[in-house]
Amino acid sequence: MLDRPTTIAPDILEVSAVRKIYQASNGPVEALRGVNLTIRKGEFVCLLGASGCGKSTLLRIVAGFEKATEGSVTMYGFPVDKPGPDRGMVFQDYALFPWLTVRDNIGFGPKHRRVASKVVDELTDKFMAMVGLTAFADRYPHQLSGGMKQRVAIARVLSNDTDVLLMDEPFGALDALTRSKLQEELVEIWRTTGLTVIFVTHSVEEAVMLADRVIVMSAGPGRIDCEIEVDLPRPRDVASPEFNVLRREVTQKLTSHIAGSRGVAADS
Ligand SMILES: Nc1ncnc2c1ncn2[C@@H]1O[C@H](COP(=O)(O)OP(=O)(O)OP(=O)(O)O)[C@@H](O)[C@H]1O
Ligand SMILES: [Mg+2]
Repeated sequence: MLDRPTTIAPDILEVSAVRKIYQASNGPVEALRGVNLTIRKGEFVCLLGASGCGKSTLLRIVAGFEKATEGSVTMYGFPVDKPGPDRGMVFQDYALFPWLTVRDNIGFGPKHRRVASKVVDELTDKFMAMVGLTAFADRYPHQLSGGMKQRVAIARVLSNDTDVLLMDEPFGALDALTRSKLQEELVEIWRTTGLTVIFVTHSVEEAVMLADRVIVMSAGPGRIDCEIEVDLPRPRDVASPEFNVLRREVTQKLTSHIAGSRGVAADS
């Protein structure tokens, strides 16, 4: 399997000096401070950090669901100030439409944008096949397993012709085997489509398995501590010595900043 040469790709997203303050009932909460991040087109980036370090906040700002208090996010040089089909989000809890079938969930975005119904059908068939759900086209979300629901969520974003796939702990609720299968499938989709992926996780192992680059964040206020290039060939083998060297390095970087904090699966 060939890796994609993302190191020479142009920048797609730029996060500059982002600060986020939430007004909570017991006073302001500074969720992010001074966050700078450049994402190259086609890159697979994992945001890794302890609970509360602002990973979801950063992702939501990039998605346009949340506004930065200070600083800016640009995509292809244009300011991001609202959600758009060019940035699709996949959540841990699937967020599917329960009253729509697999087919209609996947076709929802293009249909909503008044794409011709023949094209909607073609897009739906294409992405349903890509995530292996063609045989389940007429099922409803409650008739699917967690892994299948997450496949629908991914296909639903892809059918929007999205450039950047934003994933907030998407496999966190799945059993280990299903999680590992979906990781493999996601890498295959990423490799074949040219998508840019920003993937939030607590798990060092998941980050090293998936990412070209791991961005380590820490809390109080949320910030980026360091980043680590993962130059292991794909498919990656968790049992290989090279994988373990990187897993240890990332774990050390993570724990040196958040010693004693809860909520991180250092899993090594
Ligand atoms: N809507 C909100 N109002 C007030 N505070 C918030 C809000 N959303 C998040 N926060 C606070 O901002 C900080 C960052 O939260 P965020 O959810 O981004 O962290 P996270 O890294 O995604 O955590 P987790 O790993 O648990 O999902 C936390 O202190 C959180 O309590
Ligand atoms: Mg979160």
